[in-house]
Amino acid sequence: MSSLTNKRILLGVTGGIAAYKSAELVRRLRERGAEVRVVMTEAAQKFMTPLTFQALSGHPVHTDLLDPAAEAAMGHIELARWADRVLVAPASADFMARLASGRGDDLLSTLCLATRAPISLAPAMNQGMWQNPATQANLEPLRRRGIQLLGPGDGSQACGEVGPGRMLEPEALATALAAGFETGLLSGRRVVITAGPTREAIDPVRYLSNHSSGKMGYALAEAAAEAGAEVILISGPTALPAPERVTRIDVISARDMHEASLAQAQPCDLFIAAAAVADYRPQQYLSQKMKKAGETQRELTLVKNPDIVADVAQLFPKPITVGFAAESEQVLEHARAKLERKRLDAIIANDITRDGLGFNSDDNAVVLIDREREQSYEPMSKTQLARALIEQLARYLP
Ligand code: PMT
Repeated sequence: MSSLTNKRILLGVTGGIAAYKSAELVRRLRERGAEVRVVMTEAAQKFMTPLTFQALSGHPVHTDLLDPAAEAAMGHIELARWADRVLVAPASADFMARLASGRGDDLLSTLCLATRAPISLAPAMNQGMWQNPATQANLEPLRRRGIQLLGPGDGSQACGEVGPGRMLEPEALATALAAGFETGLLSGRRVVITAGPTREAIDPVRYLSNHSSGKMGYALAEAAAEAGAEVILISGPTALPAPERVTRIDVISARDMHEASLAQAQPCDLFIAAAAVADYRPQQYLSQKMKKAGETQRELTLVKNPDIVADVAQLFPKPITVGFAAESEQVLEHARAKLERKRLDAIIANDITRDGLGFNSDDNAVVLIDREREQSYEPMSKTQLARALIEQLARYLP
Protein backbone atom coordinates (compact mmCIF):
# COMPACT_ATOMS: atom_id res chain seq x y z
CA MET A 1 0.00 0.00 0.00
CA SER A 2 1.64 3.28 -1.04
CA SER A 3 1.89 5.86 1.66
CA LEU A 4 0.52 9.32 2.34
CA THR A 5 2.56 9.79 5.51
CA ASN A 6 2.64 13.45 6.59
CA LYS A 7 0.84 14.54 3.41
CA ARG A 8 -1.67 17.34 3.92
CA ILE A 9 -4.77 16.61 1.89
CA LEU A 10 -7.47 19.23 1.49
CA LEU A 11 -10.65 17.31 0.67
CA GLY A 12 -13.37 19.34 -1.03
CA VAL A 13 -16.85 17.84 -0.87
CA THR A 14 -19.46 19.19 -3.29
CA GLY A 15 -23.19 18.46 -3.55
CA GLY A 16 -23.99 14.96 -4.75
CA ILE A 17 -25.24 11.66 -3.39
CA ALA A 18 -21.67 10.27 -3.59
CA ALA A 19 -20.77 12.62 -0.70
CA TYR A 20 -21.52 9.72 1.65
CA LYS A 21 -18.53 7.86 0.16
CA SER A 22 -16.27 10.79 1.04
CA ALA A 23 -16.70 9.99 4.72
CA GLU A 24 -15.06 6.61 4.04
CA LEU A 25 -12.47 8.38 1.88
CA VAL A 26 -11.35 10.47 4.88
CA ARG A 27 -10.73 7.24 6.80
CA ARG A 28 -8.79 5.67 3.91
CA LEU A 29 -6.58 8.77 3.56
CA ARG A 30 -5.87 8.91 7.28
CA GLU A 31 -5.08 5.18 7.40
CA ARG A 32 -2.28 5.90 4.94
CA GLY A 33 -0.87 8.60 7.20
CA ALA A 34 -2.38 11.75 5.63
CA GLU A 35 -3.58 14.75 7.60
CA VAL A 36 -6.98 15.65 6.16
CA ARG A 37 -8.89 18.93 6.31
CA VAL A 38 -12.36 19.07 4.79
CA VAL A 39 -14.10 21.91 2.96
CA MET A 40 -17.80 21.47 2.15
CA THR A 41 -19.87 23.48 -0.29
CA GLU A 42 -23.36 24.58 0.71
CA ALA A 43 -24.90 21.87 -1.50
CA ALA A 44 -22.67 19.18 0.06
CA GLN A 45 -24.15 20.02 3.47
CA LYS A 46 -27.60 18.97 2.17
CA PHE A 47 -26.23 15.42 1.82
CA MET A 48 -23.83 15.10 4.77
CA THR A 49 -23.23 17.10 7.95
CA PRO A 50 -19.96 18.89 8.71
CA LEU A 51 -20.02 17.09 12.08
CA THR A 52 -19.47 13.71 10.38
CA PHE A 53 -16.39 15.00 8.59
CA GLN A 54 -15.18 16.79 11.69
CA ALA A 55 -15.32 13.55 13.66
CA LEU A 56 -13.58 11.56 10.93
CA SER A 57 -10.88 14.09 10.07
CA GLY A 58 -10.26 15.26 13.64
CA HIS A 59 -10.46 18.92 12.53
CA PRO A 60 -13.23 21.52 12.23
CA VAL A 61 -14.80 21.54 8.77
CA HIS A 62 -14.52 24.68 6.65
CA THR A 63 -17.74 25.80 4.97
CA ASP A 64 -17.79 29.55 4.62
CA LEU A 65 -15.60 32.04 2.80
CA LEU A 66 -16.69 34.99 4.90
CA ASP A 67 -16.81 33.46 8.38
CA PRO A 68 -14.62 35.66 10.66
CA ALA A 69 -14.23 32.90 13.30
CA ALA A 70 -13.01 30.34 10.75
CA GLU A 71 -10.75 32.95 9.13
CA ALA A 72 -9.20 33.72 12.52
CA ALA A 73 -8.47 30.00 13.13
CA MET A 74 -7.06 29.12 9.70
CA GLY A 75 -7.83 31.61 6.95
CA HIS A 76 -8.63 30.47 3.43
CA ILE A 77 -5.28 31.59 2.03
CA GLU A 78 -3.47 29.80 4.84
CA LEU A 79 -5.53 26.68 4.11
CA ALA A 80 -4.66 26.93 0.40
CA ARG A 81 -0.95 27.15 1.33
CA TRP A 82 -1.24 24.37 3.89
CA ALA A 83 -2.33 21.75 1.35
CA ASP A 84 0.09 19.38 -0.39
CA ARG A 85 -2.77 18.29 -2.63
CA VAL A 86 -6.42 19.27 -3.14
CA LEU A 87 -8.87 16.48 -3.90
CA VAL A 88 -12.46 17.37 -4.72
CA ALA A 89 -14.60 14.25 -4.25
CA PRO A 90 -17.32 14.17 -5.29
CA ALA A 91 -16.85 16.89 -7.90
CA SER A 92 -20.29 17.85 -9.22
CA ALA A 93 -20.97 19.08 -12.77
CA ASP A 94 -21.72 22.52 -11.36
CA PHE A 95 -18.44 22.69 -9.41
CA MET A 96 -16.44 21.58 -12.44
CA ALA A 97 -18.14 24.25 -14.55
CA ARG A 98 -17.30 26.92 -11.96
CA LEU A 99 -13.70 25.70 -11.70
CA ALA A 100 -13.34 25.63 -15.50
CA SER A 101 -14.42 29.25 -15.74
CA GLY A 102 -12.16 30.36 -12.87
CA ARG A 103 -14.95 31.43 -10.51
CA GLY A 104 -14.23 32.17 -6.87
CA ASP A 105 -17.76 32.45 -5.52
CA ASP A 106 -17.48 30.11 -2.54
CA LEU A 107 -14.77 28.83 -0.21
CA LEU A 108 -13.84 25.73 -2.21
CA SER A 109 -13.58 27.45 -5.61
CA THR A 110 -11.56 30.27 -4.01
CA LEU A 111 -9.18 27.76 -2.43
CA CYS A 112 -8.71 26.06 -5.80
CA LEU A 113 -7.75 29.44 -7.29
CA ALA A 114 -5.41 30.33 -4.45
CA THR A 115 -3.55 27.06 -3.94
CA ARG A 116 -0.24 26.12 -5.51
CA ALA A 117 -0.88 22.46 -4.70
CA PRO A 118 -1.90 20.08 -7.49
CA ILE A 119 -5.68 19.60 -7.78
CA SER A 120 -7.44 16.29 -8.46
CA LEU A 121 -11.15 15.90 -9.16
CA ALA A 122 -13.27 12.79 -8.69
CA PRO A 123 -16.34 13.57 -10.81
CA ALA A 124 -19.67 12.11 -9.70
CA MET A 125 -22.94 12.81 -11.49
CA ASN A 126 -25.75 11.32 -13.50
CA GLN A 127 -24.48 9.69 -16.72
CA GLY A 128 -26.46 12.11 -18.90
CA MET A 129 -24.92 15.08 -17.11
CA TRP A 130 -21.42 13.61 -17.52
CA GLN A 131 -21.93 12.98 -21.25
CA ASN A 132 -23.55 16.34 -21.89
CA PRO A 133 -21.36 18.38 -24.31
CA ALA A 134 -21.32 21.26 -21.81
CA THR A 135 -19.69 19.09 -19.12
CA GLN A 136 -17.33 17.50 -21.64
CA ALA A 137 -16.32 20.95 -22.91
CA ASN A 138 -15.37 21.93 -19.35
CA LEU A 139 -12.86 19.08 -19.14
CA GLU A 140 -10.52 20.59 -21.72
CA PRO A 141 -9.64 23.81 -19.80
CA LEU A 142 -9.35 21.82 -16.57
CA ARG A 143 -6.88 19.35 -18.12
CA ARG A 144 -4.96 22.21 -19.75
CA ARG A 145 -4.42 23.73 -16.29
CA GLY A 146 -2.95 20.42 -15.07
CA ILE A 147 -6.01 19.46 -13.02
CA GLN A 148 -6.13 15.69 -12.71
CA LEU A 149 -9.35 13.77 -13.28
CA LEU A 150 -9.74 10.57 -11.27
CA GLY A 151 -12.62 8.72 -12.91
CA PRO A 152 -15.52 8.73 -13.17
CA GLY A 153 -16.27 5.02 -13.11
CA ASP A 154 -18.93 3.30 -15.16
CA GLY A 155 -21.89 1.30 -13.81
CA SER A 156 -25.24 1.51 -12.10
CA GLN A 157 -26.02 4.85 -10.53
CA ALA A 158 -27.98 5.99 -7.49
CA CYS A 159 -30.63 7.46 -9.83
CA GLY A 160 -31.25 4.00 -11.35
CA GLU A 161 -29.50 4.71 -14.65
CA VAL A 162 -26.41 2.90 -15.95
CA GLY A 163 -23.35 4.59 -17.49
CA PRO A 164 -20.31 6.76 -16.76
CA GLY A 165 -20.50 9.16 -13.81
CA ARG A 166 -19.94 7.06 -10.69
CA MET A 167 -17.39 8.40 -8.23
CA LEU A 168 -14.40 6.04 -7.90
CA GLU A 169 -14.36 3.99 -4.70
CA PRO A 170 -12.51 5.57 -1.72
CA GLU A 171 -9.72 2.96 -1.79
CA ALA A 172 -9.07 3.58 -5.50
CA LEU A 173 -8.98 7.35 -4.89
CA ALA A 174 -6.55 6.99 -1.97
CA THR A 175 -4.29 4.75 -4.09
CA ALA A 176 -4.35 7.19 -7.02
CA LEU A 177 -3.59 10.10 -4.73
CA ALA A 178 -0.62 8.31 -3.13
CA ALA A 179 0.70 7.37 -6.58
CA GLY A 180 0.58 11.06 -7.53
CA PHE A 181 3.32 11.77 -4.98
CA GLU A 182 5.69 9.27 -6.60
CA THR A 183 7.90 11.12 -9.11
CA GLY A 184 10.45 8.44 -10.05
CA LEU A 185 13.06 11.22 -10.43
CA LEU A 186 15.63 9.27 -8.41
CA SER A 187 14.81 5.75 -9.60
CA GLY A 188 17.83 3.48 -9.30
CA ARG A 189 19.76 6.07 -7.23
CA ARG A 190 21.18 5.63 -3.75
CA VAL A 191 20.76 8.64 -1.47
CA VAL A 192 22.33 9.04 1.99
CA ILE A 193 20.95 11.72 4.32
CA THR A 194 22.06 12.79 7.79
CA ALA A 195 19.41 14.24 10.11
CA GLY A 196 18.80 15.42 13.65
CA PRO A 197 21.22 16.51 16.36
CA THR A 198 24.23 14.70 17.75
CA ARG A 199 24.87 14.24 21.46
CA GLU A 200 28.35 14.61 22.86
CA ALA A 201 28.55 12.90 26.24
CA ILE A 202 30.13 14.65 29.22
CA ASP A 203 29.38 11.91 31.74
CA PRO A 204 26.73 9.14 32.00
CA VAL A 205 23.90 11.70 32.50
CA ARG A 206 24.96 14.86 30.67
CA TYR A 207 25.66 15.76 27.08
CA LEU A 208 26.10 18.71 24.68
CA SER A 209 23.53 18.93 21.91
CA ASN A 210 21.27 21.34 19.97
CA HIS A 211 17.62 21.95 19.05
CA SER A 212 17.47 19.99 15.78
CA SER A 213 14.33 17.84 15.67
CA GLY A 214 15.31 15.90 12.55
CA LYS A 215 12.15 17.07 10.71
CA MET A 216 14.03 18.59 7.75
CA GLY A 217 16.24 15.56 7.19
CA TYR A 218 13.37 13.10 7.63
CA ALA A 219 11.23 15.07 5.15
CA LEU A 220 14.09 14.90 2.64
CA ALA A 221 14.39 11.15 3.20
CA GLU A 222 10.67 10.74 2.56
CA ALA A 223 10.78 12.91 -0.58
CA ALA A 224 13.80 10.98 -1.92
CA ALA A 225 11.98 7.67 -1.32
CA GLU A 226 8.93 9.05 -3.14
CA ALA A 227 11.25 9.94 -5.99
CA GLY A 228 12.20 6.25 -6.20
CA ALA A 229 15.63 6.32 -4.51
CA GLU A 230 17.09 3.75 -2.14
CA VAL A 231 17.41 5.95 0.94
CA ILE A 232 19.71 5.57 3.93
CA LEU A 233 18.86 7.96 6.75
CA ILE A 234 21.61 8.38 9.34
CA SER A 235 19.81 9.88 12.27
CA GLY A 236 20.89 11.41 15.53
CA PRO A 237 18.50 11.03 18.50
CA THR A 238 15.01 12.28 17.51
CA ALA A 239 11.42 11.50 18.50
CA LEU A 240 10.40 10.83 14.88
CA PRO A 241 9.31 7.47 13.49
CA ALA A 242 11.40 6.10 10.61
CA PRO A 243 9.79 7.03 7.29
CA GLU A 244 8.48 4.11 5.24
CA ARG A 245 10.76 2.63 2.57
CA VAL A 246 13.80 4.22 4.20
CA THR A 247 16.64 2.41 5.98
CA ARG A 248 17.39 4.28 9.18
CA ILE A 249 20.70 3.96 10.99
CA ASP A 250 20.56 5.40 14.51
CA VAL A 251 23.63 7.14 15.86
CA ILE A 252 24.33 9.29 18.91
CA SER A 253 27.55 11.23 18.58
CA ALA A 254 29.23 13.10 15.72
CA ARG A 255 31.90 10.41 15.58
CA ASP A 256 29.22 7.68 15.22
CA MET A 257 27.58 9.74 12.45
CA HIS A 258 30.94 10.24 10.75
CA GLU A 259 31.68 6.51 10.73
CA ALA A 260 28.20 5.54 9.47
CA SER A 261 28.22 8.28 6.82
CA LEU A 262 31.58 7.31 5.32
CA ALA A 263 30.55 3.65 5.28
CA GLN A 264 27.19 4.38 3.60
CA ALA A 265 28.42 7.04 1.17
CA GLN A 266 30.68 4.55 -0.61
CA PRO A 267 29.07 4.31 -3.03
CA CYS A 268 26.10 6.65 -3.25
CA ASP A 269 24.80 9.13 -5.83
CA LEU A 270 23.66 11.93 -3.55
CA PHE A 271 24.72 12.78 0.02
CA ILE A 272 22.67 15.39 1.90
CA ALA A 273 23.91 16.61 5.28
CA ALA A 274 20.84 18.02 7.04
CA ALA A 275 22.05 17.05 10.52
CA ALA A 276 23.07 19.67 13.05
CA VAL A 277 26.37 18.08 14.05
CA ALA A 278 28.17 19.24 17.18
CA ASP A 279 31.38 20.87 16.01
CA TYR A 280 33.07 20.06 19.32
CA ARG A 281 32.91 17.32 21.98
CA PRO A 282 34.24 17.20 25.55
CA GLN A 283 37.89 16.21 25.48
CA GLN A 284 37.32 13.77 28.28
CA TYR A 285 34.34 11.50 28.99
CA LEU A 286 33.85 11.01 32.72
CA SER A 287 32.76 7.44 33.37
CA GLN A 288 31.19 8.47 36.72
CA LYS A 289 28.63 11.24 37.18
CA MET A 290 30.38 14.58 37.71
CA LYS A 291 29.91 15.66 41.33
CA LYS A 292 29.14 19.15 42.54
CA ALA A 293 32.02 20.68 44.46
CA GLY A 294 32.05 24.09 46.09
CA GLU A 295 33.32 25.96 42.99
CA THR A 296 31.20 28.56 41.12
CA GLN A 297 32.86 27.93 37.78
CA ARG A 298 33.94 24.79 36.05
CA GLU A 299 35.83 24.47 32.81
CA LEU A 300 35.06 22.01 30.09
CA THR A 301 37.70 21.48 27.45
CA LEU A 302 36.33 20.74 24.00
CA VAL A 303 38.02 19.17 21.00
CA LYS A 304 36.95 19.37 17.38
CA ASN A 305 34.78 16.69 15.83
CA PRO A 306 35.47 15.37 12.34
CA ASP A 307 33.67 17.26 9.57
CA ILE A 308 31.38 14.62 8.08
CA VAL A 309 30.17 16.36 4.95
CA ALA A 310 33.66 17.70 4.13
CA ASP A 311 35.09 14.18 4.39
CA VAL A 312 32.33 12.76 2.15
CA ALA A 313 33.14 15.47 -0.41
CA GLN A 314 36.73 14.11 -0.55
CA LEU A 315 35.69 10.56 -1.43
CA PHE A 316 36.49 9.04 -4.79
CA PRO A 317 34.19 8.43 -6.54
CA LYS A 318 32.46 11.37 -4.93
CA PRO A 319 28.68 11.59 -4.61
CA ILE A 320 26.94 14.89 -5.32
CA THR A 321 27.43 16.38 -1.85
CA VAL A 322 25.00 18.90 -0.41
CA GLY A 323 25.25 20.60 2.97
CA PHE A 324 22.96 22.81 5.01
CA ALA A 325 24.00 26.04 6.70
CA ALA A 326 22.04 27.24 9.72
CA GLU A 327 23.00 30.87 10.14
CA SER A 328 21.86 33.75 12.34
CA GLU A 329 23.63 36.61 10.49
CA GLN A 330 25.09 37.24 7.02
CA VAL A 331 23.31 34.08 6.04
CA LEU A 332 24.27 33.90 2.36
CA GLU A 333 27.88 35.01 2.86
CA HIS A 334 28.51 32.39 5.56
CA ALA A 335 26.75 29.71 3.52
CA ARG A 336 28.86 30.51 0.42
CA ALA A 337 32.03 30.33 2.53
CA LYS A 338 30.99 26.86 3.79
CA LEU A 339 30.25 25.73 0.24
CA GLU A 340 33.86 26.56 -0.71
CA ARG A 341 35.57 25.44 2.49
CA LYS A 342 33.86 22.05 2.54
CA ARG A 343 34.11 21.64 -1.27
CA LEU A 344 30.40 20.94 -1.66
CA ASP A 345 28.35 20.86 -4.83
CA ALA A 346 25.60 22.89 -3.20
CA ILE A 347 24.55 24.29 0.16
CA ILE A 348 21.10 25.05 1.52
CA ALA A 349 21.09 28.15 3.71
CA ASN A 350 18.50 28.66 6.48
CA ASP A 351 18.11 31.86 8.43
CA ILE A 352 17.48 30.52 11.93
CA THR A 353 16.45 33.89 13.35
CA ARG A 354 13.10 33.85 11.49
CA ASP A 355 10.14 32.96 13.75
CA GLY A 356 8.56 29.56 13.12
CA LEU A 357 11.28 28.46 10.68
CA GLY A 358 14.47 26.41 10.92
CA PHE A 359 15.20 24.40 14.06
CA ASN A 360 12.38 22.31 15.51
CA SER A 361 9.61 23.86 13.41
CA ASP A 362 7.22 22.39 10.85
CA ASP A 363 8.08 25.01 8.23
CA ASN A 364 11.26 26.28 6.68
CA ALA A 365 12.49 28.79 4.10
CA VAL A 366 15.88 28.35 2.45
CA VAL A 367 18.17 29.46 -0.35
CA LEU A 368 19.80 26.72 -2.43
CA ILE A 369 23.25 27.91 -3.48
CA ASP A 370 25.59 26.28 -5.97
CA ARG A 371 28.53 27.69 -7.93
CA GLU A 372 26.32 29.07 -10.67
CA ARG A 373 23.18 30.32 -9.06
CA GLU A 374 20.97 30.81 -6.03
CA GLN A 375 17.35 29.83 -5.70
CA SER A 376 15.08 31.02 -2.89
CA TYR A 377 12.29 28.92 -1.40
CA GLU A 378 9.69 30.95 0.50
CA PRO A 379 8.24 29.63 3.81
CA MET A 380 6.42 26.34 3.39
CA SER A 381 6.07 23.04 5.21
CA LYS A 382 9.27 20.99 5.46
CA THR A 383 7.43 18.24 3.55
CA GLN A 384 6.70 20.57 0.61
CA LEU A 385 10.16 22.11 0.75
CA ALA A 386 11.84 18.69 0.79
CA ARG A 387 9.93 17.67 -2.32
CA ALA A 388 10.94 20.87 -4.13
CA LEU A 389 14.59 20.49 -3.06
CA ILE A 390 14.77 16.83 -4.11
CA GLU A 391 13.35 17.76 -7.52
CA GLN A 392 16.11 20.36 -7.88
CA LEU A 393 18.94 18.21 -6.48
CA ALA A 394 17.99 15.33 -8.82
CA ARG A 395 19.05 17.64 -11.68
CA TYR A 396 22.66 17.65 -10.43
CA LEU A 397 22.93 13.92 -11.10
CA PRO A 398 24.43 12.82 -14.37
O1 PMT B 1 16.19 19.18 12.33
P1 PMT B 1 15.22 20.34 12.21
O2 PMT B 1 14.61 20.74 13.54
O3 PMT B 1 14.18 20.09 11.16
O4 PMT B 1 16.04 21.62 11.74
C1 PMT B 1 16.64 21.64 10.49
C2 PMT B 1 18.04 22.27 10.55
C3 PMT B 1 17.93 23.75 10.85
C4 PMT B 1 18.90 21.57 11.61
C5 PMT B 1 18.70 22.02 9.14
O5 PMT B 1 17.87 22.59 8.18
C6 PMT B 1 20.10 22.58 9.08
O6 PMT B 1 20.31 23.74 8.78
N1 PMT B 1 21.12 21.70 9.34
C7 PMT B 1 22.52 22.09 9.43
C8 PMT B 1 22.72 22.80 10.72
C9 PMT B 1 24.14 23.12 11.01
O7 PMT B 1 24.57 22.74 12.04
O8 PMT B 1 24.84 23.71 10.09
P2 PMT B 1 26.44 24.01 10.26
O9 PMT B 1 26.57 25.36 9.69
O10 PMT B 1 26.95 23.77 11.62
O11 PMT B 1 27.11 22.90 9.32
C10 PMT B 1 27.24 23.06 7.91
C11 PMT B 1 27.11 21.71 7.24
O12 PMT B 1 28.18 20.86 7.67
C12 PMT B 1 25.82 20.97 7.58
O13 PMT B 1 25.43 20.30 6.42
C13 PMT B 1 26.24 19.98 8.66
O14 PMT B 1 25.44 18.78 8.61
C14 PMT B 1 27.67 19.67 8.23
N2 PMT B 1 28.57 19.30 9.33
C15 PMT B 1 28.84 20.18 10.32
C16 PMT B 1 29.75 19.84 11.30
C17 PMT B 1 30.35 18.56 11.25
N3 PMT B 1 31.22 18.18 12.18
N4 PMT B 1 30.06 17.70 10.28
C18 PMT B 1 29.17 18.05 9.30
O15 PMT B 1 28.89 17.25 8.40
